[in-house]
Amino acid sequence: MSAQSTPAARNSASMPESARDLRYQSGFGNEFATEAEPGALPQGQNAPQRAPYGLYTEQISGTPFTAPRALNRRSWLYRIHPSVKHRPFEPMEPGRLRSGPFNEVPTPPNQLRWRPLPIPDQPADFVAGLVTMAGNGDPAMHSGVALHIYAANRDMDDRYFFNADGEMLIVPQQGRLRLATEMGVIEAVPGEIAVIQRGIKFRVALPDGAGRGYICENYGPLFRLPDLGPIGANGLANPRDFLTPAARYEDREGAFQLIAKFQGRLWSAALDHSPLDVVAWHGNYAPYKYDLDRFNCINTVSFDHPDPSIYTVLTAPSELPGTANVDFVVFPPRWQVAEHTFRPPWFHRNFMNEFMGLIRGQYDAKAEGFVPGGASLHNCMAGHGPDAATFEKAIAAELKPVYLADTLAFMFETRFVCRPTRFALESAELDEQYFECWQGLDKRFHERLRDGRK
Ligand SMILES: [Fe+2]
Repeated sequence: MSAQSTPAARNSASMPESARDLRYQSGFGNEFATEAEPGALPQGQNAPQRAPYGLYTEQISGTPFTAPRALNRRSWLYRIHPSVKHRPFEPMEPGRLRSGPFNEVPTPPNQLRWRPLPIPDQPADFVAGLVTMAGNGDPAMHSGVALHIYAANRDMDDRYFFNADGEMLIVPQQGRLRLATEMGVIEAVPGEIAVIQRGIKFRVALPDGAGRGYICENYGPLFRLPDLGPIGANGLANPRDFLTPAARYEDREGAFQLIAKFQGRLWSAALDHSPLDVVAWHGNYAPYKYDLDRFNCINTVSFDHPDPSIYTVLTAPSELPGTANVDFVVFPPRWQVAEHTFRPPWFHRNFMNEFMGLIRGQYDAKAEGFVPGGASLHNCMAGHGPDAATFEKAIAAELKPVYLADTLAFMFETRFVCRPTRFALESAELDEQYFECWQGLDKRFHERLRDGRK
């Protein structure tokens, strides 16, 4: 394999100009400490009588105070205005954003697939461009997910957003995202993901003018790295590759809108200052990004296609052992070397529910029809697997080592059935002919039995 054949991890030389001034701290769930002005971060205690520079001290907790230490997440913010300072929230129109309980329309047991949603004709920022495709559970019960696609064409200049219902795992597919958050600025390109936790305020700019991607809104426990078991101490997503921004603040006054997602609805409040005014912070509750090219993909070097859990990047558990509220799974460029094996994913029916997206290239179970920006949904016990063309190719293939270079697919795998929204089932982007891709899987049994050929 030549060095050129695998995507190299992004470095500063390949970084967009707009991202070069951004600073990050490395590690997953670390106790970070960062200040944008010298001496702004109090030393030796969290809440001094008078915080430096006249800043207000504020704690944000992402878990109960009494959560076990290994799971406890909270940060201390030192800010120009405390978060309490805003006008009362008023209800606002949700657009095409939906929330649990997902009961708009009956959920069919069919395999479902969508073409990419178009970038809107009308001006739409990240919040206005949110479209809910499916979901399960209920934010009121801190359980389940909502699965959204964003398609937007303008920056959030004077609008800020936070989500009290869950954390948001954002998967850009087209266009860069510049996420200015309370804790600092993250820029994520397609091929990277960003996670913004419950309650953290942010606004989104689109340096490329337009953007589209996928969002898993996780109502359940926070995403964490999966246990590695016999894999050992290293592998899959390594902790040091997760990047959390250094402190960076806005000192802006004016007429701003703060949008909250709270108990499934959107709410709007007037604000006379930017809420991204955190000058220093420390703690382990903070947004992060991760470059999927850094995923240390582990796979078979003998035979058989492993279960897709081997590709888990992040997992949000439930109260049942081994039963995730949602797993985030990635299918990156990788070698296929399995001997005497049907190499694509096998035909299967699962307990878990699979919402898939494609960031770039082609997915190895579908020769056509599943395109970047599109999505598919295979719910509990829905039979699925390679299409007829992929099957025919795979059983005839010479089993030499093959590098799957042009591919980056992912899956949000949930324990509850993903219930599509009315929009998703009535959308012009729904592929009504999806079932056809399996109809060419002909009966092969009798002819071969008659001929005595296994
Ligand atoms: Fe599947």
